[in-house]
Amino acid sequence: METADIPAHVPPERVLRFDFRNDEAIRRDPWGYIASLNDRPDIFFSPDLGGYWVVTRAELIDDVFSRHDLFTATSLAIPKLENATPLIPNNFDPPEHTGYRKILANKLFSPRALSTLEPDTRTFCLQLFEAFEPGRCEFVHDFAYKLPIDIFLSMMGADLALRDRCLEWIRLIFRGRSAEETAAGFIGANEFVQEWLTEQLADPEQNKGSMFQALVAARLEGRPLSFAEMHSITMMLFSGGLDTVTSQMTHIMRFLAESPEHRQHLLDHPDVLPYALEEMLRRFGISFIGRAAAKDFEYHGVAFKKGDPVCAATPIAGLDARAFPDPLRVDFGRGKGRRVKHLGFGSGPHLCIGAYLARTQLTIMIEELLPRMPNLRVAPGAVIENAAGATMMLKSLPLEWDA
Ligand code: HEM
Repeated sequence: METADIPAHVPPERVLRFDFRNDEAIRRDPWGYIASLNDRPDIFFSPDLGGYWVVTRAELIDDVFSRHDLFTATSLAIPKLENATPLIPNNFDPPEHTGYRKILANKLFSPRALSTLEPDTRTFCLQLFEAFEPGRCEFVHDFAYKLPIDIFLSMMGADLALRDRCLEWIRLIFRGRSAEETAAGFIGANEFVQEWLTEQLADPEQNKGSMFQALVAARLEGRPLSFAEMHSITMMLFSGGLDTVTSQMTHIMRFLAESPEHRQHLLDHPDVLPYALEEMLRRFGISFIGRAAAKDFEYHGVAFKKGDPVCAATPIAGLDARAFPDPLRVDFGRGKGRRVKHLGFGSGPHLCIGAYLARTQLTIMIEELLPRMPNLRVAPGAVIENAAGATMMLKSLPLEWDA
């Protein structure tokens, strides 16, 4: 992976290595490694991945997400992707972002469009559980990959048989170990979405998917969306809504399999789940999100030059000891009767629009699976490795329980 020359405006004391895609430590012990950033400066420069700034404090990460006047979302990938097609709405700053965001919030993710989400998720969840061998599964491939993609494909009105093709591009986009691999994932996914949309638009009445119908009915300043806009939004949902939920599921399930006390607490007190879920989302943040300096400016004693890549990582925010004392500990009571406030879904104008969809899937996974998996445990001798990339997920998670 490319190691950049240190730009002239970066002082030597701010230069420290951090390669969240390739470092050995992030594969073996991601949380310990990320927690060790507590000992580093609030903002440092890593020459890895083409050279980029890493922000280590939750408060400042919140700022990077929110201050589009300083940190533009027009460049989201680290390493930077050259000539990438912009994703709607994520790659746009306000005010352009606002109109698109409204379409997603009011149409694609409206309560009407999501009305069957909960029952559908329960049905898919139980179908996957019933397909497990009695008392064992490889959770990543048997469940975590499948549930989010089945739900997404069915909401778009796409054929569930497309699942495997989609998974390969998602792997490249999120877990590509070079800019070339990531770009190859985007190219494959782009072509697929192009073909699929063309087919659907030839006869839109046939497609009963709630999100597809909302896309066709959407109006931007009174006009329908162009093909390019629909394509970009579909690509955004495809790349933002699948791997993220999968990744989150793998960490939460591993934690629950390894912590009988927390598991029992949830079984005995199901009303705690909404609070527990937020604490687990804090503790197991997964996304390394990029921005670029929008202009030359000084911020917290650091000189940024226009175009400098900046990483706002939700796992780093969640393990910031200044914001969350004893950050590695999972404490369902951390919010003291409220849901703990975290940056797992970002913040500011780009706050994750799929958060409700994600929370629903995670909640139903816990509600439906835990009671069916007594004495849940990680299979003895299993080697659990983290697959690093733009999001972090476990490569595999063999689970056992008393059938
Ligand atoms: C646990 C699962 C998820 C996590 C951790 C997550 C995380 C995030 C984060 C951190 C952002 C902010 C990005 C930024 O500031 O640039 C974001 C934005 C976004 N997410 Fe999610 N996400 C999840 C699930 C989903 C789902 C299920 C969907 C939809 C199917 C989705 C669609 C989006 C979209 C469209 C945006 C961009 C919003 C905008 O730019 O206004 N996400 N997500």
